[in-house]
Amino acid sequence: MTPNDGEPDLSLVIGGVRFRNPVIAASGTFGYGREYQGLLTVSDLGGICTKGLTLEARDGNRGTRLHETPAGLMNSVGLENPGIPAFLERELAGMLALGPVVIVNLAGSTIESYAEGARLLDSSGAAMVELNISCPNVKAGGMAFGLDPQSAGAVTRAVRRALPHKPLMVKLSPNAPDLPAVARACVSNGADALSLVNTFKALALDVEARRPVFENLTAGLSGPAVRPLALRLLWELWDAVAVPLVGLGGIGSPEDALEFLLAGAAAVQVGSALFPRPALPTEIIRGIAAYMRRKGFSSLTDLPLRQQPPAV
Ligand SMILES: Cc1cc2nc3c(=O)[nH]c(=O)nc-3n(C[C@H](O)[C@H](O)[C@H](O)COP(=O)(O)O)c2cc1C
Repeated sequence: MTPNDGEPDLSLVIGGVRFRNPVIAASGTFGYGREYQGLLTVSDLGGICTKGLTLEARDGNRGTRLHETPAGLMNSVGLENPGIPAFLERELAGMLALGPVVIVNLAGSTIESYAEGARLLDSSGAAMVELNISCPNVKAGGMAFGLDPQSAGAVTRAVRRALPHKPLMVKLSPNAPDLPAVARACVSNGADALSLVNTFKALALDVEARRPVFENLTAGLSGPAVRPLALRLLWELWDAVAVPLVGLGGIGSPEDALEFLLAGAAAVQVGSALFPRPALPTEIIRGIAAYMRRKGFSSLTDLPLRQQPPAV
């Protein structure tokens, strides 16, 4: 307990950045934060990830963008965004004023475009960059970089060089055939932290129309259906790398978040569940604090089931 108030301390530090608690809004599900004002106390959150931002403005994908499944959500939004220069000019100041740590989700189609975007972000007020090498819904770049260790390492290295002043978290794809190898390549090329998972590549067919639901054929699956899969990947990565892991995928309750924290996550992100339940982060933060009080834990570092330092 903290000496002053007897309350558990929910704060944590990733890459030198202090978060007041371990609950972060996931990229693409929370706009730029202000869209949620009035639906929850946005300043309650530990952090907010922006939508994936590219150097140039993009319109995103055509056709159906969202499709519900019995225990999940499929999306093919693509990377609709105003472009990094316009984000810095129009959105960043407002986001910073909200209070939580601002994490910019950086996307691109070539290594050069990722690096150029990172260069612009390095001199900005954003606290941290989340390098998105895991978007399954774009034709060039995105997940293509996150599937194999060599390309993941190359883009991480280029972004690291272009971003000397900010911590770098790399967001991994669950679709990588050997995720620990990709994770190790990111860490050895300069990642300070890893977040996982982005969405799972999935398919839906419209039976009546006799065609795929999505114009790009496949889309990304998120929500409760993926949670045990994401948790298993995080559990395995904890053994493979020695940097903070941020866990996400299907988190919809305090217990879900606690599962990831027990598995070794330093923090969690909440995504799809925000759509039906925008005030969920507040509930999760309170639930984590209540659990810690009940178990007599004073800090988040008491939570992981495995306390030994992970092997490098
Ligand atoms: C509508 C939608 C848009 C998303 N856009 C992005 C994005 O721009 N960049 C990114 O890294 N992840 C994006 N994601 C993935 C989420 O951030 C998250 O990794 C994934 O949905 C799993 O978490 P969840 O099950 O809690 O939603 C998006 C997800 C959804 C549902």
